[in-house]
Amino acid sequence: MPAQNMEELVSLCKRRGFIFQGSEIYGGLQGFYDYGPLGVELKNNIKAAWWRANVYERDDMEGLDASIIMHRDVLRHSGHEATFSDPMVDNKKSKKRYRLDHLVKEQKTDVQAKVAEAMGQSLDNFPALVQSLVQNPALASAALIASGVRDSFSGEVGDWTEPKPFNMMFKTTIGPTADEDSYGYLRPETAQGIFVNFKNVVDATSRRLPFGIAQIGKAFRNEITPRNFIFRVRELEQMEIEFFCVPGTDEDWHAHWLEKRLAWWEAQGVPRSRIEILDVPPEDLAHYSKRTYDLMYDYPTLGFEEIEGVANRSDYDLGSHTKSQSELGLVASVSENSDSIAKLTIPHPETNKPVVPFIIEPSAGVDRALLAVMSEAFTRETLANGSERIVLRLRPHLAPIKVAVIPLARNREEITSVAKAIKAELQALGLGRVLYEDSGNIGKAYRRHDEVGTPFCVTADFDTVGLGGEGKESDPALLNTVTVRDRDTLQQVRVPISELSAWIRSRLVYSV
Ligand code: GAP
Repeated sequence: MPAQNMEELVSLCKRRGFIFQGSEIYGGLQGFYDYGPLGVELKNNIKAAWWRANVYERDDMEGLDASIIMHRDVLRHSGHEATFSDPMVDNKKSKKRYRLDHLVKEQKTDVQAKVAEAMGQSLDNFPALVQSLVQNPALASAALIASGVRDSFSGEVGDWTEPKPFNMMFKTTIGPTADEDSYGYLRPETAQGIFVNFKNVVDATSRRLPFGIAQIGKAFRNEITPRNFIFRVRELEQMEIEFFCVPGTDEDWHAHWLEKRLAWWEAQGVPRSRIEILDVPPEDLAHYSKRTYDLMYDYPTLGFEEIEGVANRSDYDLGSHTKSQSELGLVASVSENSDSIAKLTIPHPETNKPVVPFIIEPSAGVDRALLAVMSEAFTRETLANGSERIVLRLRPHLAPIKVAVIPLARNREEITSVAKAIKAELQALGLGRVLYEDSGNIGKAYRRHDEVGTPFCVTADFDTVGLGGEGKESDPALLNTVTVRDRDTLQQVRVPISELSAWIRSRLVYSV
């Protein structure tokens, strides 16, 4: 059974060193999180599993790592400067600022109904209601006040301003000057780095359609109200594929990628039964999208929320980066020469005529993936002896620590030296982190490793090295063997040290 609520996940993350609040010792920075010793391992393992499935195991993909800060004109041509905004509204009384749709959604149903009525809308079509609030700011302000919309912070009825759009891109200046020409943006999606390198990759690899480019990297969004732990953050990480195909084949590729992505989630322990596919209604589509499937995962406390979008971006992006500013209808350029210097076309595989490909884009957030994977793995169970344990049943390839090697007596050099040699041998298998652990109390060590999802604990004891101990003779049959404890079954088996590497490898190697 997955985690029951977000609090138990947040608590585990902090307690065991997965995730910390960003800039915590200065009071924290909202919407920013730091991944601790175990969080960084889990995150790296998720990204490695994604890269393996989407790049190494396919022959129609290339990888890329583009820069985070981008030329302002990339984001002008992409449409983000004009449209990448959320509607915000301020409470003049509390001086708090809210994302309009979130604020209305948080109200009691009767208040929501009053807002809808005042706007001449139905509550059944929430996106249309939000749209009407944005499009009629003066009426919206009056409707919010008259309907008794409460401030989520103070709990009191607010004195609401007219809603207005808030662009979510982080702007920065590049170099020592601060004039208009020196602006750049922190990318709001990794995708743009792929589009602007389309021609470079095609020229360098001689790829023909269909093929894809994959990238994992940071993206930045100045969310109005970051919330729900790492679910909505201002600095996020994305795993994105831009798959380029011949126009007309896009719908088949869209279906292909939807299936592939669902299978990938299943292999990470996030089953299809816990994901709903939302065929995004036309009025909710992003400015570039012809059609999008949102994969909605059933997060604890939050309910069904987007974990990944699989979009058909048509020829919008490569088309936009190919068109001149006047063709795009952009206002006068900030720089003299801001049109793209490349024509982002590729020969049609049959006619050889230049064509702007269509793009299918599966785009998943690493932070949301981590939250889902942890939530699915989180198990609270009562053991036969009546005690309770928390165990993180992570798929072995995702576990932050693969094996903990524990000497039963930490001050017996005969035992610790064998345990250290075992750690070195298992580490050399290259399966991920193997931890030598001599904290003293074996019971506590097992509990800790259950909680962080370590699949196996290997214990070297007195019998391993032929010593009697704890009032009994050494058992010669156990010489040069160790105990291996299985996280999930709690079974303990005795394995000869000479066979241990093969034993562990066969159970841990990535097999999806
Ligand atoms: N290139 C397409 C794109 O960026 P998106 O739906 O805005 O599409 C894709 O974002 C994924 O990125 C989402 O499904 C989600 O997993 C993740 N994501 C987006 N905004 C996020 C945020 N503020 N915090 C955490 N993850 C976010």
